[in-house]
Amino acid sequence: MVTPLIKRFSFVERIVHWVVGITFVALLATGLAFAYPSLFWLTMFLGGGPAARVLHPQIGVLFGVGILFMFGLWVRDMFLDRQDRAWLGAIKHYATHDRDNVPPAGKYNAGQKLFFWVQSVLAILFMVTGGLLWFPESFGATWLNTARLLHYASTLGGGLFLIVHVYLGTVAYPGTARSMIEGTVTPAWAKLHHPRWTGDRVDR
Ligand code: HEM
Repeated sequence: MVTPLIKRFSFVERIVHWVVGITFVALLATGLAFAYPSLFWLTMFLGGGPAARVLHPQIGVLFGVGILFMFGLWVRDMFLDRQDRAWLGAIKHYATHDRDNVPPAGKYNAGQKLFFWVQSVLAILFMVTGGLLWFPESFGATWLNTARLLHYASTLGGGLFLIVHVYLGTVAYPGTARSMIEGTVTPAWAKLHHPRWTGDRVDR
C-alpha cells in the first residue's frame, strides 16, 4: 500500500532556506574567527584568514539576498492570530511535550513565526552594520564603533536563536528535518505538530 505524504515545502523554498542556512553558518564561523583568536582556525574552511576576510562580506550579500527571498516566500503565513497568542500563553506545555494543553497550531506555530520575525529584523541589522564595516574609510569612528557593537550583538543573538532552531528541527522533534530535506512530512507528524494545517497530499 502506498502511504500518502503531505507536501510542506516546495523545491524553491528548500533551496532558499538552505542558501540562508549555509551562508549564515559560514558567516557565524568566520565572524567568530575574526573576533576570537582561539577560533581563528575556523577560517581554514574558507581557504585561510585573508581569503575568509574577502569572502565574509560577499557571503553576507548572498545571505541578504537569500533572506529577502525567504521573507517574500513566507511572510504571508507568519502573522500571529488569536490562536497563536493562546499557543504562546501555553508555551511551557509545548516545552514539556504536554500536548493536551497546547492550543492547536496552523502551518507554523507561534514560536516559529516569532523566530521568522526575529531573524528578519536581525538580518537587517547584520546587513546595515556589515555594510558600514565593509567600507570603513567612508565613515567616522563613532559610526564604525557603533556598527561593530551592533554587528557582534545581533550576530550572537542570531547564533543563539539558530542553535534553538536547529535543536527543535532535528533532535527535539523527530520527523521535522525531512520537511526541509525532502519537502514532505507524514500525516501523523502534521496531525501532532500542526493540527490546524492541511497541506496537499502527495503519493510516494
Ligand atoms: C543551518 C542549520 C539549519 C537547520 C538544520 C534548519 C532546519 C529547519 C527545518 C527542519 C525547518 C522546517 C521546520 C518545519 O517544518 O516546521 C526550518 C524552517 C525554517 N528555518 Fe531553518 N534551519 C537552519 C538554518 C536556518 C537559518 C540560518 C535561518 C534564518 C536565519 C532559518 C530560518 C527558518 C525559518 C524562518 C523557518 C520556517 C519557520 C520555522 O520552522 O521556524 N533556518 N529550518
